[in-house]
Amino acid sequence: MKPLLIRDIGILAGIHPEGTAVLQGSMMANLPVLNDAWLLCANGFILDFGNMNNIPTQLPPDTNIFSVNGGAIFPSWCDSHSHIVFAASREEEFVMKIKGKSYEEIAANGGGILNSAEKMQTADESELYDAAFARLNDMIGQGTGALEIKSGYGLTLESELKMLRVIKRLKENSPIPIKATLLAAHTYPLAYKESHQAYISMIVEELLPAVYQEGLADYFDVFCEKGFFSVEETDQLLAAAAHYGLKPKIHANQLSVSGGVEIALKHKAISVDHLEATDALVIGSMTNHYTIATLLPSCSLFLRIPYANARGLIDANIPVAIASDYNPGSTPSGNMNLVVSLACINLRMLPEESINAATINGAAAMELGHELGSITKGKRANFFITRTLSSIAFLPYSFGQSQIEHIVLNGEFY
Ligand code: NIG
Ligand code: FE
Repeated sequence: MKPLLIRDIGILAGIHPEGTAVLQGSMMANLPVLNDAWLLCANGFILDFGNMNNIPTQLPPDTNIFSVNGGAIFPSWCDSHSHIVFAASREEEFVMKIKGKSYEEIAANGGGILNSAEKMQTADESELYDAAFARLNDMIGQGTGALEIKSGYGLTLESELKMLRVIKRLKENSPIPIKATLLAAHTYPLAYKESHQAYISMIVEELLPAVYQEGLADYFDVFCEKGFFSVEETDQLLAAAAHYGLKPKIHANQLSVSGGVEIALKHKAISVDHLEATDALVIGSMTNHYTIATLLPSCSLFLRIPYANARGLIDANIPVAIASDYNPGSTPSGNMNLVVSLACINLRMLPEESINAATINGAAAMELGHELGSITKGKRANFFITRTLSSIAFLPYSFGQSQIEHIVLNGEFY
């Protein structure tokens, strides 16, 4: 791998000092930039950067030198919440929603997650892998440089393991870091509708040990919601997962104030995700914890549900990340550029806050902050290069219009 020197960078964005773990409160609006810059990468990492006045003259003879002619550079998006392993799309539900059915009504009638789970039972593992790899590739092309992927469409021992093995293969073959989350507690399969404890026993006694043995998961997720998993059931599951070293990243308060946040905090969750139904009490409960609030504005857009109270969370000094939630039901899109724009438009986050939420805070929500999420010496050289931008704000302002011209992963053009 040859060293790479990028020159004539109009704006080099996201230059956070080494050791910056997560941003919260007013710090979220701080996106340090360098204008008229160069950036040097070697062996897959960021070696150095500076102003064009001081561009290095002594370089190894085999260094690739590339001028971006005034284009901007941003750290790759760190998308900390997705469900990209699935067997089939669900556009029929999209049409049902246009005609007036709600997400809950569709789910209660065997649609939703159960619809995806039924298709997962018969899906071929290598076909699942190929389809997920294609989605991953699309996301990388849109600037994503680290990704979390959940199971949760299996809902049986065999199918959950099948999904997690697909994620493991994606990890092995992906140019970007991937984290895997076990989400068997996504909904109760029909056969267990009346016997919740039997399904929980399957997860605790069979699935968790098997997942642990094969090293298939980094985190544990529960959909804590009315009609899905109760607070008590979530508590029981998170305690069991902790025995296997799996920390929680959970779905909470998507459709109602469920108590999911408080129970996740009790178990020291890395993140609580969704929070579309967030009242002042929920926000109050999150202060003085390290748990990240991960907001998913493209899910609100697609389901026509309320947007999370990002301003309330930021004003209460809670670290906020944003992620795609890419899945076949509530968010069939993995485009983080759109997520960043929606965070500005509908969460009323400033461009700097949105970009930080999608980079350094997203990395923290996957415990990857030491290697990703900012332009920092020693971090992995994952970033994207845009056209010349009149300002940072132009990126989210030009919503739905990609400004990306090149992707660099591990110090090489992708
Ligand atoms: O994050 N809320 C739970 N899970 C997914 C949607 C799952 C589905 O509809 O397939 C979400 O929105
Ligand atoms: Fe989700």
